[in-house]
Amino acid sequence: MDVEGKIALVTGAASGIGFAYAKELLQNGAKHVAILDLASSSGSESANKLNGEFGNGKAAFIPCDVTKAQEFEAAFAKTVKEFGGLDIVVNNAGIMDDERWELEININLTAVVRGTLLSFQYMGKDKGGKGGVVVNVASTAGITPAVYFPVYSGTKNAVIGASRSFGHPYHFEKSAVRVLTMCPHITHTQLITKGAERAHIENEAKEKLSGYMKTLPMQTPESVAKGVIKIIKVGENGSVWMVADGEPACELDFPSFPVKK
Ligand SMILES: NC(=O)c1ccc[n+]([C@@H]2O[C@H](COP(=O)([O-])OP(=O)(O)OC[C@H]3O[C@@H](n4cnc5c(N)ncnc54)[C@H](O)[C@@H]3O)[C@@H](O)[C@H]2O)c1
Repeated sequence: MDVEGKIALVTGAASGIGFAYAKELLQNGAKHVAILDLASSSGSESANKLNGEFGNGKAAFIPCDVTKAQEFEAAFAKTVKEFGGLDIVVNNAGIMDDERWELEININLTAVVRGTLLSFQYMGKDKGGKGGVVVNVASTAGITPAVYFPVYSGTKNAVIGASRSFGHPYHFEKSAVRVLTMCPHITHTQLITKGAERAHIENEAKEKLSGYMKTLPMQTPESVAKGVIKIIKVGENGSVWMVADGEPACELDFPSFPVKK
């Protein structure tokens, strides 16, 4: 799918990699982008910034806590009403906070599942829509164990499994909605720079971990955003992609199991 002229919705887009997704979508000719984020976030300023760069009315901030089902659905409805449709959804909002693991599961997994179901509801051909693309944001920490963030790793692993399953032709044949997964590797945002405070380790070990995390090579949010544009354009339904070390997005392979007949 070409991004030109499309209407997009990005969760957690007030800052971090989500903001880079919103910007890159507009850079690639998207007609409008809805920025969903917490009411307490910098969403307004971020939308103003994008409108200043790409033209008035291109971006709109819709305050939305993705863990609140009614708010989340209302944000989809508002996007469609104000912008006249919806073609691309990026379920990006996420936290890496094993100290608050139940909230982490609610944001990283439950809300991504809800965002996928809402995408089918608002874009699905079988629901009166035109079809579209959903990009669910997982992580390389969902592919390999993350020793200090076991619950975070589990949520991202589950996002991969759910997205590959929603990305089966069975769902596409009805909906014409492709479901893709993006797994960024370590990227320079507050999620990493402040990450050690939220790890599943003793307080005394957090300082050491913080020092270690600051030494990790970090790619820019923009490199991940370029990867998302690529996969929206060429990614096959159900495919899983990684952006690591600022390199172009590459597709990940998974083992397949013989099904006994
Ligand atoms: N930074 C990395 O190294 C990295 C690596 C792999 C995957 N990721 C994933 O990428 C996504 C974005 O991460 P980031 O690094 O930009 O993080 P970030 O903390 O910089 O930004 C996250 C954004 O999500 C918003 N958000 C948090 N809770 C929300 C909620 N309940 N409802 C709506 N919005 C909410 C925040 O306000 C913030 O704007 C996350 O899903 C994260 O797990 C990040």
